[in-house]
Amino acid sequence: MRLTVANHPLITHKLTILRDERTPSPIFRLLVEELVTLLAYEATRDVRVESVSIKTPVTQTVGLQLSHPRPLIVPILRAGLGMLEGMTKLLPSAEVGFLGIKRDEETLEPFTYANRLPDDLANRQVFIIDPMLATGGTLNDSIDYAFERGAESVTCVCLLGAPEGVENVKSHLNSKWPAKDVNIVLGALDEKLNELGYIVPGLGDAGDRLYGTAQ
Ligand code: URA
Repeated sequence: MRLTVANHPLITHKLTILRDERTPSPIFRLLVEELVTLLAYEATRDVRVESVSIKTPVTQTVGLQLSHPRPLIVPILRAGLGMLEGMTKLLPSAEVGFLGIKRDEETLEPFTYANRLPDDLANRQVFIIDPMLATGGTLNDSIDYAFERGAESVTCVCLLGAPEGVENVKSHLNSKWPAKDVNIVLGALDEKLNELGYIVPGLGDAGDRLYGTAQ
């Protein structure tokens, strides 16, 4: 497993506004989209491309284009939806599959209530988007769904991560998918999880901050 923590003042600046409890939902949504576009730039560094011959107004030349099969973006409902627009801006030709995973607020165990992934993900590069890598349980289940369907690689893009969650995903991968290519891209690696499973300092409940408390 590779872990990439973005180290860029613009990202930290935007994250600081997100963390601030006074930031209202409309600004929060806008910033999430901007942040994802910045993180997606890093996350797509290994996206599969092929050569293409084109003619510029001056000469014939060879460039690169995204190759087939197209990448698959998987937002984890509901908070991951807030990251979808930013991700598709950078990968407009990607397809989108959906996973609805909710964690039980007492046990912190993830529960899958919707799975709209294609049955066959052979040779596909999968990009899972979820703002918060907290316990790692949701990401572990999502990664399992992708690899069980034959995905070639999985890249997870999260705004914030907790060290406990990163360790959990790492040990899950080592025991279940040791040969698979997984990259985790974080906007920041925070200090810890609290007793309620929230990332500290974090930004609170990402879904609530994006969409309010109606569920
Ligand atoms: N999910 C959230 O929305 N926030 C956290 O801090 C942890 C999990």
